[in-house]
Formats: sequence, structure tokens, C-alpha cells
Amino acid sequence: MIRKRSLSILLAASLSLGAITASAAPVAPAGNQESEQAFDNKIVKRIKVENIYNHIAELAKNPRVAGTQGEKDAVDYIKSQFESYGYETELQPFNIYSYTAPSLIELSIDGNELATNSFTYGVNGEVTSEFVDAGLGAPSDFEGKDVSGKIALIQRGSFTFAEKIMNAQNAGASAVIIYNNGVGVINGTLGEPNDYVPAVAITQEQGSALKARLDDGETVTATLKIEGAKSEEATSHNVVATKKATQKSTNQLILVGAHHDSVDGAPGANDDASGTATVLELARVFANSPTDTDIRFVTFGAEENGLLGSYEYVSKMTDEDYERTVGMFQMDMVGSQDAGELIMYTNDGEKNIVTDLGAAAGARLANTGEAIPYGEGGRSDHVPFEEAGIPAALFIHAPVEPWYHTPEDNLDKISLDKLEEVSNIVGSAVYQVARPDTPALEKAKVAPKEVDYVFEDRELE
Ligand code: BES
Ligand code: ZN
Repeated sequence: MIRKRSLSILLAASLSLGAITASAAPVAPAGNQESEQAFDNKIVKRIKVENIYNHIAELAKNPRVAGTQGEKDAVDYIKSQFESYGYETELQPFNIYSYTAPSLIELSIDGNELATNSFTYGVNGEVTSEFVDAGLGAPSDFEGKDVSGKIALIQRGSFTFAEKIMNAQNAGASAVIIYNNGVGVINGTLGEPNDYVPAVAITQEQGSALKARLDDGETVTATLKIEGAKSEEATSHNVVATKKATQKSTNQLILVGAHHDSVDGAPGANDDASGTATVLELARVFANSPTDTDIRFVTFGAEENGLLGSYEYVSKMTDEDYERTVGMFQMDMVGSQDAGELIMYTNDGEKNIVTDLGAAAGARLANTGEAIPYGEGGRSDHVPFEEAGIPAALFIHAPVEPWYHTPEDNLDKISLDKLEEVSNIVGSAVYQVARPDTPALEKAKVAPKEVDYVFEDRELE
């Protein structure tokens, strides 16, 4: 279930932000800048970047694919770290489907081997038969054709891969080959485990050449063999540690998050052991800091499977927590020496209280006084929060490094400077709201002066 904030809540939220609006970022007036920085320093001086590095070293020893033992080991590590700082820590389990790609895929046409790609959640099988051209794979594309037992050749477009395969199967086809309608290879998914007929993808050139032969009335025979594919139900977890306000609570709640899972075949040192490790270190520092605001540190599972952990978290939020959450800070890929500069992305490309706080903290901490820019981007766990109406932003370095989602995303590429910058900025931004001497956001005396920060249309890759 996806939450939507009602209009009245949205209205109340925008009113309650007072002077902190999307255009007025919270930075203290000139005279107070020094004391503001003294507050930053209370957090900054206690952040130990070596701790962050050591967490990354531990987490990136193995891949942490959602639903595998590798993820569970990471989850146990994160939980025990939170607990060692004194946090009450909760695991939030949820079901996902895991998929193991085939160990063997062979397609030979008239005895010639052709390169192919499998679909995520595709099945195993072995079929030898002749081709039938089935257009885009709509039900009408099969009418009046003898499809029974044959391999349907279908072009990409208009329907999902799963729909095309189902239509072919209903018409009696024994297998499906889908060819691209643009350049490159298809890296597709069938969405969930299924018992469709076997299917693979080929390129546009390969498909067009085949179709031309079929159009000429040729009979073309192929053998397709897929082995070792496996779809399974598995359990992923979010890890949640809550810090309660230590004094005169405003009852407001701030979320600080990252995803702890990684893709198959990559140690995920930067994506996103870096963010997870930074969440841990900020949790350690805040454990002993006075705050009048609750802070919840969350590491999400199954981000790489489609932001499943953060969608799960949002769908399970209590109404009370939902309404008192003032912002969500997501850190994903925050420590690569080979990535670009820091930027804050929101899914809708608009400023919000989180980007305001981040920009202001960045300006206070940078020698140059320059604020961090913001941009438009999804692709991480800030998205479900934003969709639900909670101000959220992704802190990331862009463009991302060339090692993204490769075996080279390892500890050697981690930059202590980058980790220091992000942990200091996010820590200071959170503390500006959470510390007891600043009023709750509705009173907004934290924000008498704007900091200028600009929209940047920066490429991520
Ligand atoms: N850390 C990445 C997000 C990312 C990558 C943002 C490159 C910007 C540039 C994240 O873990 C990821 O890979 N996300 C998926 C999307 C998700 C919905 C499965 C992606 O971007 O493909
Ligand atoms: Zn990531």
C-alpha cells in the first residue's frame, strides 16, 4: 500500500514549516553563524571517519544480495552495532522473490549459435521447433496461425514481456524469442516467478534477420536450452534503531537511511556499504547527544530489487509516526574516490526541508561557504517517502563511478575525504533540527536567513 498525505496534512505541514520553506534554507543570521558552527562542531568533532571505513571493510567482504545469507550476516552486524551504542533495535522482515540466473543458455538456429539474454524470473527448458512470426505478441497476432508447439518470434514494445509470453503460451507456443526494438541487448524481467514457457531475448538485428527469412516463407528451426535458472521466495529485512528525545520532546521524528543490500557479483563497498556505514557512525554519535527530536536510523533491504525495503517501511509506518516525521535523509553511494561532487536529489526535482537543511549545513562546513546543489533523481530509498508526502532527499556523488554494480566496487575505491564530507553535512543538518536549543520546526526561528543553492541538471551516469 502506498500512503498519500491528505491535503489537510500537506497544508498543515507547509504552514508548520513557517519560515523554513523550500526557498528559505535554514541558516543562522550572520551574527549567529559562528555559534551555528559551534553546534555543527559538536557533532563533527565526534564523527570518526575511520569507523565508517571499518564498517565498509566489514560489510563489503561479501555481496549482500537481498534474501541471501550474505544479507542476513550484514543485517546481524548492523543490528549488533546499533545495540552496542545502546539503541533498541528492531528487524523488519518482509518477503521477496530471489532469482538465480541460468548457468547455461543456448540458442542455435539451423545449427548456428546465437548470443542471447535471459529474463529475470524466466524458467528452464529445452525446445527444438520451428519459428512462427507473432508480431508484437498481442492475442490478435496469433489468430489464424498454426502456433502449436512452435517458437514464437515477437518484437519488443507495447506490452510487457510477461504479457507477450503468456499470449504465446495461450496460443500453444512451446517457447518465445523476443527481439529488441532499439539498439543494445534487452535486460528484462518477467516481474515475478511463473510457469510460462521458456523465453530469451535477442538483438534487433538478429530478430529482423530472422523475421525477413520467415517473411520469405522459409522454415527456420531452432533449439533453445536453458538450465540452472531458479526463482525462490526469500526474506529480506530492514534494520531500525530509534533514538528517543532526551529532553522536552517536540515529538518530531527525523529518519536517516541507507540500503544495506548489494547486487549479485559486486561487493557494493560504495553501493551502499558507504551509506550504511555512515548511518551507523551517525547513530553512534547521536546516541550520546542531547536532542528534543526523535531520530530513527534505518538500513533498508532489497533496494536493488525495486526499493522493496523502503516501500515496506513506509507501508508499515504508524499513522502517528507518519504525521510526526519531518524529513528523511537517504545516503547512497557516498564514498567513492572516482565519483563526482556531492548533490542532493529529490524525486520530484523540487527543494524541500531536507535539501534546505543539507544545503545550509554544506555552506557552513565548506571552506568556500558554497552550498550543495540539488537535482531531480529517483533510484533510491528516498522515493517511497517522497511519494507518501514526506520530505526526503538522496545524498550522492554524481556522476557515479565507473565501478557502479561491478566487482570493482570494492574497498580500494573508498575515499575517506568523501565519507567525511557527507557524514559531517548530514550529521550537522540533522542536529540543527534535533538539538534542544532550536525550536521545533513550526516555530522556525532556526531559519531566519536563506542560503542560495541551485538546481543542477547533472548526469548520474
Ligand atoms: N545506488 C543506486 C542508485 C543510483 C545509481 C543512483 C546510479 C544514481 C546513479 C541504487 O542502488 C540502484 O542501483 N538503483 C536501481 C533502481 C532500483 C529501483 C532497482 C537503479 O538505478 O538501477
Ligand atoms: Zn544503491
